[in-house]
Amino acid sequence: MSGDEPVDEEGFRLRGAALLRSAANDLKRDDAAAAADLGVSVADFAAYAEGRRAVPGELVRRAAAVWPVNEADLLPWRDDCPDGVVIHRLADSIASARVLTRGGIDYYEYRDTAMSRVASFRPEWIKMLSVVDDDDPAHPGVRWNKGHLLYQFTYFVGPVNYYVREPEGDRVLRMDTGDSVWGVPYSPHTFTSRSAGEEAYILALTYGGELVGDAQRELAALGAETAANFARAPGGLTFPAILQDFLNALALPADRLAALSGLSEERVADLLDGAVAPAPEEITRLAVALRVSPRDLMPIKRDVVGSIRHCRAGEAREWRYPSSPQAAYRIRELAGSSLHPHTRALEIIPLAAADRVAPSSSSLRTYQHQYVYNVSSQTADLAWRFEGRSFRDRLDPGDSAYLKPFVEVAFASERPDACRLLSLRIGGRVTPETRTALGTIYPGSLPRYLRENGRWY
Ligand SMILES: [Fe+2]
Repeated sequence: MSGDEPVDEEGFRLRGAALLRSAANDLKRDDAAAAADLGVSVADFAAYAEGRRAVPGELVRRAAAVWPVNEADLLPWRDDCPDGVVIHRLADSIASARVLTRGGIDYYEYRDTAMSRVASFRPEWIKMLSVVDDDDPAHPGVRWNKGHLLYQFTYFVGPVNYYVREPEGDRVLRMDTGDSVWGVPYSPHTFTSRSAGEEAYILALTYGGELVGDAQRELAALGAETAANFARAPGGLTFPAILQDFLNALALPADRLAALSGLSEERVADLLDGAVAPAPEEITRLAVALRVSPRDLMPIKRDVVGSIRHCRAGEAREWRYPSSPQAAYRIRELAGSSLHPHTRALEIIPLAAADRVAPSSSSLRTYQHQYVYNVSSQTADLAWRFEGRSFRDRLDPGDSAYLKPFVEVAFASERPDACRLLSLRIGGRVTPETRTALGTIYPGSLPRYLRENGRWY
């Protein structure tokens, strides 16, 4: 973590100016009208909106009082990762160590690992301090939490017991090195060690994904009943719910949908009450009738039983990348779920010697935010390219890193096939819908979208 100086002060000021300008634009205020609303001089407003002076907190509060905006709408993010990658050293991790008690006993030692303000990762190295001699979830050494908002991907090292509380009862999984679990928010869970003598810790990689940020703020303000209406459980009745939403949105009666799609009224009624599942050809016809894309009607597949999915080290799917003989990595796929298609947990095992590390055709590049932790006892060399600039560094054992989306990165090691990097890749707030929107705005407008710097007329 950094010192007392605010991170990225200039960028923060300029992005804040752009948000103020955007808010005034959206509300059709020119400088004089905006200044009058906000109780400042026209010259002062211009200085704020042009980024010559930082938007003061008082002005943000005033805007939220007199305009239909929220304080958060005028507050930009800070960029603490200008080179595309932030590396967190083991020594800093150790320096952050703190022991948290549960029910009066020392329960976990926590250590921070790589985090960035531009991603929702909150990853911790956690050592189990409570040792048990059985797999009983009611053992006095097992102290439960209440569950938490963030999703959690967990990677296990050593003899760790993982406990999860399901509505049907408590489950215990005996985990070992290389095993992993992915779990949904708010399911109560806990961990213990099965051995006082052996190292037993986890990498608890929590992240908010699409649930945190504006979605959570919007739902909290809309109210509990509305939030419950938005909730859509994946499963058998998802398609009827999706179809009904589109009928409601158009105020379109079901018999009219039948006529527009060429399906029988009985068939549409059966689809709407979930008595039958749609054939692919029916989805196409309904999509044409509703003037949407077939994907908008497709339900999410649920592969999670209860609230977790786990993957044993020995069961992980594995491949080489790129395909042999040019393979630079062995890739092992860890726990994940179809509920979160943009989350991917991998073990990345470099096969190239350290002197060959360079961004190249075998570089790894993904649209996701990426977290990497060196879980092995071998140093990894890394080279990356971001916004036309090239960098090199290393990840020693216990070091971790955050990588921005689309960073081109190559890993290598002194001892090929001996270094193991745990990689968790997640989507941020830029959802597939957002990507489509970015791709359809008027050509050449992207710079204005990122930093509006003038009036819109
Ligand atoms: Fe947790």
